Amino acid sequence: QRHIVRLLSCPGTVAEDLRRDEQPSGSVETGFEDKIPRKRFSEMQNERREQAQRTVLIHCPEKISENKFLKYLSQHGPINNHFFYESFGLYAVVEFCRKESVGSLQNGTQTPNMAMETAIPFRSRFLSLKLKNQTSKQSCIQSSNQLPPSNRKLFELLCYAESIDDQLNTLLKEFQLTEENTKLRYLTCSLIEDIAAAYFPDCVVRPFGSSVNTFGKLGCDLDMFLDLDETRNLSTHKTSGNFLMEFQVKNVPSERIATQKILSVIGECLDHFGPGCVGVQKILNARCPLVRFSHQASGFQCDLTTNNKIALTSSELLYIYGALDSRVRALVFGIRCWARAHSLTSSIPGAWITNFSLTMMVIFFLQRRSPPILPTLDSLKTLADAEDKCIIEGNNCTFVHDLNRIKPSGNTETLELLLKEFFEYFGNFAFNKNSINIRQGREQNKPDSSPLYIQNPFETSLNISKNVSQSQLQKFVDLAQESAWILQQEDAHRPSVSSNQPWGLAAVLLPSVPNRGSLTKKKRKRSANERVKNLLESLKSNRTANFTETNEK
Ligand code: CTP
Ligand code: MG
Repeated sequence: QRHIVRLLSCPGTVAEDLRRDEQPSGSVETGFEDKIPRKRFSEMQNERREQAQRTVLIHCPEKISENKFLKYLSQHGPINNHFFYESFGLYAVVEFCRKESVGSLQNGTQTPNMAMETAIPFRSRFLSLKLKNQTSKQSCIQSSNQLPPSNRKLFELLCYAESIDDQLNTLLKEFQLTEENTKLRYLTCSLIEDIAAAYFPDCVVRPFGSSVNTFGKLGCDLDMFLDLDETRNLSTHKTSGNFLMEFQVKNVPSERIATQKILSVIGECLDHFGPGCVGVQKILNARCPLVRFSHQASGFQCDLTTNNKIALTSSELLYIYGALDSRVRALVFGIRCWARAHSLTSSIPGAWITNFSLTMMVIFFLQRRSPPILPTLDSLKTLADAEDKCIIEGNNCTFVHDLNRIKPSGNTETLELLLKEFFEYFGNFAFNKNSINIRQGREQNKPDSSPLYIQNPFETSLNISKNVSQSQLQKFVDLAQESAWILQQEDAHRPSVSSNQPWGLAAVLLPSVPNRGSLTKKKRKRSANERVKNLLESLKSNRTANFTETNEK
């Protein structure tokens, strides 16, 4: 379904920028390649945050005239753009041209009078529109879709694609975050920021992880980072003469305890006053303490952390890798989808491989091609200038931030070849002795006996896949080998497109058939045993999910 983004005449440049961003400018054949961002990460984040601050979220009645609705809101100032979406009701996201319009709208908004319950009077930018007189007119509002396609639709699209390259690009196009979904993510962060600002007026709540690193899939969680740097450093420049003024503060023994205390009050606040924030869980004993909740109106599962600057930096690194070459995102989406289809990944924490680890594996693989498709992190560090220098908690996180300074790869391999080679490469990787390391772009001896060792690119003594069990790794290896085999067989006898049989990417997304291919009887038996073992392991992991999170380090 096409969304409606209406850009009303608005002085200033934001509307123009938006229009420019939405306009395809490159190849006509695969329009979505144009979605590859070229802006600096910080620039993109700041622009979107500023847009979100001029935006409101409105729960609307089902029957509503779009024109009248916009006219009514325009009393408060011109509207830059808007869209509707459905999520247990109809919602509108309305971005004004000017921030003052939001204040004006809030001034004309009242706190509801409940018959049976009492409203906690909290004024946010999440509003509800009521009709004084029910009009019976049918509404003809078009909604923007916030969900990925069904499996059935995906298989249909994949079967009708012309090549494996086309299949991977189709998958990317269908699953990647839309402009509207991205706006909704920034808006949700901005609404949470307003709540946190009750305690820390200068705080910033920034999205990180897959919502912003170009690898997000419709429906993925929303990772948020409560940044208190401004609060901490606000007055560092305001010293003069021999005097230095400091705030009287409470002290706690460690950063970790400070983080836990801050998240604890914000968690309470979200629970008590946050409109639409439900199921608030404080998971403060995890390696990285967090508050998890559902933001009902947007439908996002949110993880709020603080003092987690390195994760924001690794999101920026992935953003750069995703932007450098159009094949990167297509291959990552393909592999993530493949892993999900075979239950290699799960939304529940446990002994499984995570999407973050899979992305690292794809990046590593692309660094290993000849010539390399992606540069190593060390070479991105070499390209950095003084402005890029960044040390976080003693870790050197320096790398180039300007995408235009990175030379494009001369490698012209097709996605089809890369997909096959990925399965081949990891189907035969010496996981028992080697670790994966995107900083140097080559295998290294494993520093410990974890089954899968992927070095954290910034906190180099940490393994980002420490949670992965031997049997889950084995399952990954077996499936990679099987998929490589399926694609090889197809080379010899590709089903004709008109036969409507799953082929190429669609064939490797299908559940494993035990007697498919050259799998021996012994191997099949091992497979069955493994499934039972994995099931037991997942049950165990579910019970110990919090424990695993707590002990990740
Ligand atoms: N992260 C990290 N080390 C880990 C796990 C996560 O640095 N061991 C950081 C990464 O920057 C990651 C972010 O935290 O992108 C969010 O983690 P998560 O939600 O698990 O991964 P996403 O990349 O957001 O992928 P998904 O779509 O599965 O949520
Ligand atoms: Mg995430």
